[in-house]
Amino acid sequence: MNETPESRGDREHGEIHAAMAEIEAILDHWAAEPVPTRDADGLSEKISALRARLRRHFRFEEQEGILARREGLEPEDRRFVEELLLQHRTLEERLSKTTEEVGGADGLRARIPTIVVREMRGLFRDIRRHEAQEELLQRRAHWRRSSGIRE
Ligand SMILES: [Fe+2]
Ligand SMILES: [Fe+2]
Repeated sequence: MNETPESRGDREHGEIHAAMAEIEAILDHWAAEPVPTRDADGLSEKISALRARLRRHFRFEEQEGILARREGLEPEDRRFVEELLLQHRTLEERLSKTTEEVGGADGLRARIPTIVVREMRGLFRDIRRHEAQEELLQRRAHWRRSSGIRE
C-alpha cells in the first residue's frame, strides 16, 4: 500500500474514532440498565483491541509520523510536539487502568462500576481532543510549507 506517514496517520485516526464510537454505542445501548456487564456485546474484547490499536498508533506517530520530527520546528510547534508526546504517556496509562478495571477480577458477567464507565467516556473525549490537536499541528506544518515561511 502506498501510504505516506500523513495518510497513514489520518487513516488510523479514523479507525480509532470508529472503534471508540462502537464502544460508546454499546455503553449507550446499555444505559437503560444500571450498567453494562463486562462481556456485553464483547465490550471487554473491544476495549482491549482499542488499547492495542492505540499503542501501535502512538509508537508509529513517535517513530515515523507527526511527532517523529523535532529538529527545525518553530519553537511553538516544538512545544506542541512535546506536549502531545506527554499526552501519549498519560492517555496510555489511563487506558491501561480503565481496561484493567473493566476486565476486573469478578468475571465477565459482573457489572462495570458506573465510575469506570464515566472514566472511559472522559478518556475517549481526551483522546479525540489529542487527535484533533495533531490534525491542527499537521495543518500548521502544511501552511508553513505552502506559504514558504519555513520548509
Ligand atoms: Fe498521538
Ligand atoms: Fe494520533
